[in-house]
Amino acid sequence: MPDLVLVTDDGPVRTVRMNRPEKKNALTVPMYAALVDALAGAGASAATRVIVIAGAPGAFCAGNDLQDFLNATQNAEGLAPPLIGFLYALARAEKPLVAAVSGLAVGIGTTMLLHCDHVVAASDARFSTPFVHLGLVPEAASSLLAPRRMGHARAFSLLAMGRPLDAAGALAAGLVNTVVAPGEVEAEAMQAAREIAALPAQALAATRRLLRGSPDEVIRRIDEEAAEFKRRLASPEAKAAFEAFLARKK
Ligand code: COA
Repeated sequence: MPDLVLVTDDGPVRTVRMNRPEKKNALTVPMYAALVDALAGAGASAATRVIVIAGAPGAFCAGNDLQDFLNATQNAEGLAPPLIGFLYALARAEKPLVAAVSGLAVGIGTTMLLHCDHVVAASDARFSTPFVHLGLVPEAASSLLAPRRMGHARAFSLLAMGRPLDAAGALAAGLVNTVVAPGEVEAEAMQAAREIAALPAQALAATRRLLRGSPDEVIRRIDEEAAEFKRRLASPEAKAAFEAFLARKK
């Protein structure tokens, strides 16, 4: 089986790539565990100064694997520890995070971007968070970070109503920094990463800490959301939504 997460280095830039294109990069528990390892490895690497999070062409990430969520409705354990570990790793990341988003960014594929310092999107990118439609609630501290980033009304439209944003909408909402042609998204993200990596290291680290504030508040919100998420996962409406998706082609 190919690696579900690929890690490559280009000088001071480490790229962490979700690699399950046949499932549009829907994230499974082993993928979260691999992402946690990849972020920890990047944090520990003296040579790495910036981390680029990337997906597949046309599919940045289709969100959490819905079969995994359906399984979670049965075991009543809530969000898997590697998923929570991934969210903590994003919140606590000490090196700048750049995202290169092409195509779909669903659920955590969108909410992880709220932890990134610079987001490049392809013009075909589409951001959606159908949590409530699935009988769920937002995660990844998005209920805290999205209103801060885009204001309550736009955050409500995205996170509660589940209305998607196209690339232009995401740019207007402040979710992304730059929109480029689909074939250019990775080169543009790499250029931004190199630009960040070339900045004076200590001044950059201090500036980033000041801009982001303490991760404690974000971690608390991740935990609060996870407690509610666990209750929602156990609900009949969530189970029915997962089953409907998984049965849709049969
Ligand atoms: N969980 C599990 N499998 C998923 C998935 C997910 N979140 N997203 C996509 N897949 C799978 C599909 O089941 C399909 O598998 P198959 O080929 O074995 O049938 C494969 O990935 C390709 O997806 P498909 O639906 O055929 O592609 P599409 O381009 O028509 O649609 C999406 C892509 C992402 C819009 C659609 O798959 C979708 O809505 N996925 C669910 C997204 C979601 O709700 N995520 C959770 C958010 S909390």
